[in-house]
Amino acid sequence: MRRWWLVAGRGLLALWLAVPAAFAAEVSPQQHPAGAAIASAHALATEAGLDAIRAGGNAFDAAVATSAMLSVVEPISSGIGGGGFFLLHDAKANRDVFIDARETAPESTTPDVYLDKDGALDPDRAENGPWSAGIPGLPAALVHLAAKYGKLPLKTTLAPAIRVAREGFPIYERLAVGYASRSKVMERYRGTREVFLADGDAPKVGETLKQPDLARTLELLAERGFDGFYRGEVAKKLLAGVKQEGGKWRADELAGYRVREREPLRLKYRDWDITTSPPPSSGGVALAQILQILSGWDLQKLDAPQRTHLVVEAMRRAYRDRTIYLGDPDFVEVPLVRLTSRDYAAGLRASIHPDKATPSALLSGQPAPLEDEETTHFSIIDAEGNRVAATQTVNLLYGSGMIAPGTGVLLNDEMDDFALKPGTPNAFGVMGFEANAPKPGKRMLSSMTPSFIESPDKAIVLGAPGGSRIITQVLLGILAFDAGMDPQAVVALPRYHHQWFPDAISAEPGALDAATVQALQAMGHTVNAGEPTWGNLQTVQWDKRTNTLSGGSDPRKPGGRADVLLKAVLPAPSP
Ligand code: GLY
Repeated sequence: MRRWWLVAGRGLLALWLAVPAAFAAEVSPQQHPAGAAIASAHALATEAGLDAIRAGGNAFDAAVATSAMLSVVEPISSGIGGGGFFLLHDAKANRDVFIDARETAPESTTPDVYLDKDGALDPDRAENGPWSAGIPGLPAALVHLAAKYGKLPLKTTLAPAIRVAREGFPIYERLAVGYASRSKVMERYRGTREVFLADGDAPKVGETLKQPDLARTLELLAERGFDGFYRGEVAKKLLAGVKQEGGKWRADELAGYRVREREPLRLKYRDWDITTSPPPSSGGVALAQILQILSGWDLQKLDAPQRTHLVVEAMRRAYRDRTIYLGDPDFVEVPLVRLTSRDYAAGLRASIHPDKATPSALLSGQPAPLEDEETTHFSIIDAEGNRVAATQTVNLLYGSGMIAPGTGVLLNDEMDDFALKPGTPNAFGVMGFEANAPKPGKRMLSSMTPSFIESPDKAIVLGAPGGSRIITQVLLGILAFDAGMDPQAVVALPRYHHQWFPDAISAEPGALDAATVQALQAMGHTVNAGEPTWGNLQTVQWDKRTNTLSGGSDPRKPGGRADVLLKAVLPAPSP
């Protein structure tokens, strides 16, 4: 029997009915959605969010439940040893807010820590083990969301994640393949071996992964809130684990971690009001620049080569600015007004040749490394009209690879998202990637771009993982919604990407037809067509005109699920 029936049977709630895919309700449109919709990268996480709604919670409770379950069942992508961004729409207050739970650099961060004796970047320190880990932000975000925006106690919303951590879940291909690619690093650490080699060998598809220590850590978080993770037993074990492996964290920097509430970035593109991530994400600024450059043309009236050329040129310019200007706004002055202004975009637009590629080397600046590939996203709408777009991460596959013994907490390797090797001044005297240089307490620049787009007819929540390719996935998603596509078609659409350097268009199979590739090459573009696919877009949509809810879960990474939970009047529970 499905668990929601048990809930209904206990008389706690009898008004919810789960239906797959999409539903059009015969109720008056516009005011409130007919139910709730959740899309995430794992069916158990979508289900945990729906459970929170069935238990009388709102989208913010569902976000806590979904986020925590992803931490358990998708450790390759995110976890409570990492961080994330939560974009919220609070329907009652008619307010959007951006919860920044990005990791912070520990006090031990000094410029030389990540350099070898010749002054070159030491990738092992940057990507693996304790030095690569920032102070985690995700547990604080869950506590903050529950306390300030939710209706349910953490004991309720974390219960499914605790159960699955303790009882286990079936290992799927992506986890097993990812483990194999990181095993050499992961197996260096005792805490990691205790979890992933508990049965004596590497995780295999179909086996059950149990994480009893993680269950206990989540229980402490549910019981004691912030202190359950950042002070006391778990904090002590985290500090000891980091020290044992040669790193340096301090008790006061764990206890001093705080989420930040920030004003989201807003922009207008055609009929759409777009609400998206501000710094320390680079995503919203880049998205704003690209869309404002593109608003000079009616893309749908252009042929594919011309349209792709203009989109690519806009991407190229935005990624260049990202590298130079963006960093943690609590530490550096980000010229946000200028970078997102229509006039600035008009100047960039004027620099685009209508049928010639601009070589990236002609745009001044020192290219810095961009973020890597993992991370996860989920999207939620509830029946009150609340919305959550959340992207969370441990950075690379399985983060730093290190689990602090006795905690189940897999530490992130987000320090690698800083520009760890200081740049040299560019032609204009700007210190290349100085804005994103590491400093104690600073948040590393991110590409995570959880976003809302809203027109008079539709409210849509979307976002994706994929490092520097997050921004262009969200961009292409917005352009596809603007072209009238439905959510499942949007997430399946083949992608292309340009990020200034390398100066080449990456394209998935089917993204650009042969004639378009040829035309782009004739304009001077290098095109790498037929690259392996990337990303994992998760989106939900409320069509206000028909009061229809629907969702899309990216088919590239099987195992995700978009689901709609219809608020329907069921017979009242018997007394
Ligand atoms: N670690 C990926 C990002 O924050 O963009």
